[in-house]
Order: sequence, then C-alpha cells, then structure tokens
Amino acid sequence: MDDLRDKYISLIANAADEATLEDLRVQAVGKKGEISLQMRELGKMSAEERQVAGPKLNALKDEINSALAAKKQGLADAALDERLRAEWMDVTLPARHRRVGTIHPVSQVTEEVTAIFADMGFAVAEGPQVESDWFNFDALNIPGHHPARAEMDTFYTHRAPGDDRPPHVLRTHTSPVQIRTMQDQGAPLRVIAPGRVYRADYDQTHTPMFHQIEGLAIDKDISMANLKWVLEEFVKAFFEVDDVELRFRASHFPFTEPSAEVDIRCSWEGGTLKVGEGDDWLEILGSGMVHPKVLQAGNIDPDEWQGFAFGMGIDRIAMLKYGIPDLRAFFDSDLRWLRHYGFASLDVPTLHGGLSR
Ligand code: PHE
Repeated sequence: MDDLRDKYISLIANAADEATLEDLRVQAVGKKGEISLQMRELGKMSAEERQVAGPKLNALKDEINSALAAKKQGLADAALDERLRAEWMDVTLPARHRRVGTIHPVSQVTEEVTAIFADMGFAVAEGPQVESDWFNFDALNIPGHHPARAEMDTFYTHRAPGDDRPPHVLRTHTSPVQIRTMQDQGAPLRVIAPGRVYRADYDQTHTPMFHQIEGLAIDKDISMANLKWVLEEFVKAFFEVDDVELRFRASHFPFTEPSAEVDIRCSWEGGTLKVGEGDDWLEILGSGMVHPKVLQAGNIDPDEWQGFAFGMGIDRIAMLKYGIPDLRAFFDSDLRWLRHYGFASLDVPTLHGGLSR
C-alpha cells in the first residue's frame, strides 16, 4: 500500500497538465483503478485483516483524491500566472502613432467653419446636389433669360424623350438651400449650408465640382451691420488672427439687394499669404441682404422679415489658410498629397481645443 501511495503521490506531483492528472485519477481511483481493485479484495479478507486494511485503503483513497484536487488547483493557478505574465502591458507607455488615413482639407475646413458659426448660433442645413432649376435659379430671382444662368456654366441632366419638363441641374451654388430652409423652417432662422456644387470649369483655381458654404440669417431687424460683424468674427476665428480688415465692395447678385463682395486685407510678401496685414486684397465671398422676391419664394413675408446671406468657397479658403497652390490636386486622390495636406483623424476642430494645429 505504501508503494502504491508513493507511486501516485510522485506521479501526481510531476503531472504537467490536467489531461495527465485525469489519466492518473482513472488509473488510481477510477472504477478499475489500482486502489479500487484493492478495495474489492477486502471482501476476500478475514474480518481482522479487513479491519486493518479497510481504513488504510480508504485513507489512501482520500489522500490520492486530495492530492489530485490540490495539483489541479496548482496547475490552474500556474496557467493563470503564465497568462498574466504573457499578457502584461504597461498602460503608462505613450500611444503609438498610427495613421489611419487623414482628414481631407475640405472636410477639415468644413468642420472649422461649422464650429465657428455654431458658436454664433447657426445650425447646419442641407439640400440635394441634383436640384430643380426652380430652386437653383427661379426662386433665387434668376429668371430663364437671365445671363447668370449662362454664366454659371451649368450641368443639366437629361429628361426622357418626350418629357418636356425643365431638366434638373447639378446645383451651381449652395443658395438653393436658402429657399429650402426658409420653406421648411420659416422665420426667424440662422443657418449655414456647406456642400458640393458644380460648374463646367477647369483650371488651377477651378474644378467642375467644388464646395461652398452658404450663410443665411432672417429676423425682424437684421441689417448689413450684422452681416459685417458676423463675417469679421468668422474671418478672425478662421484665420486665427486678432485683427482683420474686410472691404465690402458693391456688387450684384440677383438674390441679394444690396449686394457686396467681401475682400480681406492680406500680404503676399515672400510668397506666403498673411491675413490682416499688407496692401493686397483678396476676395473671399459674395453676400448681401436677401432680396424680397427670394423671401417670398421661401414663403416668408418680406414686409415683416429681412435678413442677410453669404456664399463662400470652402476649397478656396482652405487653399488660403493652408497654403495649397493648386485646387485640382484636391480631387486627384493622390496619397502623397493627402498625407502631406491631410489632418490627423482625431484632431477634431473646436473653438476651445483649437481649430488647426
Ligand atoms: N451664390 C453666390 C455664388 O455662388 C454667392 C452668394 C451667396 C452671394 C449668397 C450672395 C449671397 O457666387
């Protein structure tokens, strides 16, 4: 019995895994295990012999069982220790910089502009890129014969043969969103509408698809002074300068009266653009007081309400702010360009966290 004990205690102590342990259990105390077979022999013994051997065998069986249980627990603890050691990680290490693509300058600038106007109470509005000619032109006081229609180098869609309705257009500006928002929300309102627009034009500063951001504020007593303040606040925040000078130049748009194009004081000294100083002026947007006919098209009573509107090229101000020379490269999907001019994906522009870094 002592031999049996020594044999199993040492085998159990040396078992390397749970499977070995289970084999040993079967061999020792399983139904046909060595100790179980010995217990069967008890029946053949004399009463005196049995009185000595019985308790000994039972004690041996208990000892083997608890050795098995203890070893099983030991193996599990060791496995856990090993896992904890292998999976150890120093959470105080700095994060590894891994670029998962970059944010396109157009997206970045759209976010920047949106953050600035959101701070002044402007919500974001949207409209379709394929637009009816009524929203794109007529509602904005650009009738069928108006030269602006031709000037805009419009892309027209096809109608089925025999369908005489006017064709849809790829919107030539974001101004149709003015009409849609007025119709949907009524007055008063304050929105910006960023989005894609289309004109048949292609050179260093023009691509057939580009981006604009429209601004519209309607209320009882909105004036050009409000427009001027809002734009000055915007330009200071966007170009991250304390002082800017804007120049309002009388202009003409069918949908605003009066109308003004806005230039910003800048310098090109040394080939780089500096905003807020110098003797040059750079045109950045078109604007004006919303024309009464446009308010009417938006179902807003021009005797009661008035407002200002402006439209700005997003790509253009992105080129200016980030010194990007050729607009066409924006849409070439050239990875080298995107890596160079793109923004880190987690740097979301906010007014408090900083617009650009
Ligand atoms: N829609 C005009 C353009 O594309 C810009 C503009 C918008 C001008 C709003 C005045 C008011 O050039």
